[in-house]
Amino acid sequence: MTSTIRFRLNGRPAALDAEQGAVLLWALRTSLQLTGAKHGCGAGLCGACTVLVDGKAVRSCITPLARVAGKEVVTIEGLAQDGRLHPLQQAFIEHDAFQCGYCTPGMVLAAQSLLNANAAPSRDEIAAHLDQNLCRCGAHQRIVDAVESASR
Ligand code: FES
Repeated sequence: MTSTIRFRLNGRPAALDAEQGAVLLWALRTSLQLTGAKHGCGAGLCGACTVLVDGKAVRSCITPLARVAGKEVVTIEGLAQDGRLHPLQQAFIEHDAFQCGYCTPGMVLAAQSLLNANAAPSRDEIAAHLDQNLCRCGAHQRIVDAVESASR
């Protein structure tokens, strides 16, 4: 059985006909061709698939599409505005806060979720918030530098 799920996506209305049990990550990546959210573990453990739902970080690989009905979803593709990178994206570049880049969309959106709740977090708060977003290249220190810089 399918149903139509309506929500806002990166500032625009979106509607998808979805099977029961459809998962947000795959709806984004396959139906909507937004491939910024990555598939890592597929089990809610690594954070590569993080998107924002009503401003909070959500692991899209374990989020039913139906759960975002009526909500505002932001993916990494929606963060830059008017052709300008978001300050967090700019800070990641300036602080060289990635190597392979696979974790970066999820890291940036998890960081934005923190800044939505706390505009001036301490380094410890940044590190604690991003602790469950994994970076296999070991760029965590530079990621914390970038988020701290973007929060000033
Ligand atoms: Fe979703 Fe790892 S792919 S948390």
